[in-house]
Amino acid sequence: MNLRWAIYKLKASAGFYVVIGLWLSVIMDIYGYTEESTRRPTSRQAIPKFVPTPINVTVHRGDLAELHCHIKNLGPKMVVWRKASEENPLTLGEVVFTPASEISIHHEQISQSDSRWNLLIKNVQPEHAGVYECQISATGIYTHYVALNVLNYPAKRKPQVTIYGTEYVNEYSNIQLTCNASGVDRAPDDIDWFFDGTKLTTSHPHWYGRLEITKHRPLPGLSYISEITIQHSTLGDSGNYVCRSSDIEVDSLTVHVLNVNKDGSIVPRAPGEESDSIRSAESGAHSAAFNHKEPQVLLLFLILTVTACV
Ligand SMILES: *[C@@H]1O[C@H](CO)[C@@H](O)[C@H](O)[C@H]1NC(C)=O
Ligand SMILES: *[C@@H]1O[C@H](CO)[C@@H](O)[C@H](O)[C@H]1NC(C)=O
Repeated sequence: MNLRWAIYKLKASAGFYVVIGLWLSVIMDIYGYTEESTRRPTSRQAIPKFVPTPINVTVHRGDLAELHCHIKNLGPKMVVWRKASEENPLTLGEVVFTPASEISIHHEQISQSDSRWNLLIKNVQPEHAGVYECQISATGIYTHYVALNVLNYPAKRKPQVTIYGTEYVNEYSNIQLTCNASGVDRAPDDIDWFFDGTKLTTSHPHWYGRLEITKHRPLPGLSYISEITIQHSTLGDSGNYVCRSSDIEVDSLTVHVLNVNKDGSIVPRAPGEESDSIRSAESGAHSAAFNHKEPQVLLLFLILTVTACV
């Protein structure tokens, strides 16, 4: 700490201040050393030290506040957290003293000489704001201060959209995708589906008679769920499916339709790199297998495994 201050001074100005700073640091170092060595006959390294952590923490009302206290060379001493404006400690070691159930301590022993003692405040409220002290017990000189600011409004949640379902499918089988769109304080009004940029509609010639779109809002909740089923998939159904909520949030998923030939071989028709890797993996694999009409399922499994590894 003293050395850093000295270095700071060295950087900040020259001449006079450098000399003063270095002198001060030397004097304070000697002082710290002698003070420590008179207390117990250990080496200088054993002086507890706070590792720099945020000293000004700002959170929204309702969030989890985490006040950090990272200590080197704690030794057998105890760590006390207290609010600067209050006499009673909040925690002592791993024991929580305050009856406030939202307060807890998270102790993490990184190594024998390195530990974290973070004070956690759940569901933070404006009255929690203030200065907190992380103190190494029995030595008033080792104190780390953290200022907690609480913004008196909840954090803005973001609307979310998640799409999941069939990623690999054999030609002529069904593609089934689900989209879960969640709003902030109410469910979105609607969900739209797009395929390679074109809006999915049951009347579109590409999907006519094969596409089913269902939508529902589970109650209670902030979600809107939509499912699509494309029956009798074709190679032309390979591509990027996008789900967009009326909150203009989107998610996408790439579907690969695999071509099942009459001789039992599988020619994938997936866009981009994947198709190349599948093809090379396939030609690299036992081509004899194709002549011997191995079961398609086994081949598909092999290809999917190789693709996953690549
Ligand atoms: C701490 O952070 C708050 C909010 O970001 C700011 O208003 C305040 O000035 C900061 N205080 C210090 C001492 O840096
Ligand atoms: C939809 O997403 C919301 C928020 O992520 C989640 O709470 C809900 O359980 C999800 N519903 C389904 C059916 O996956």
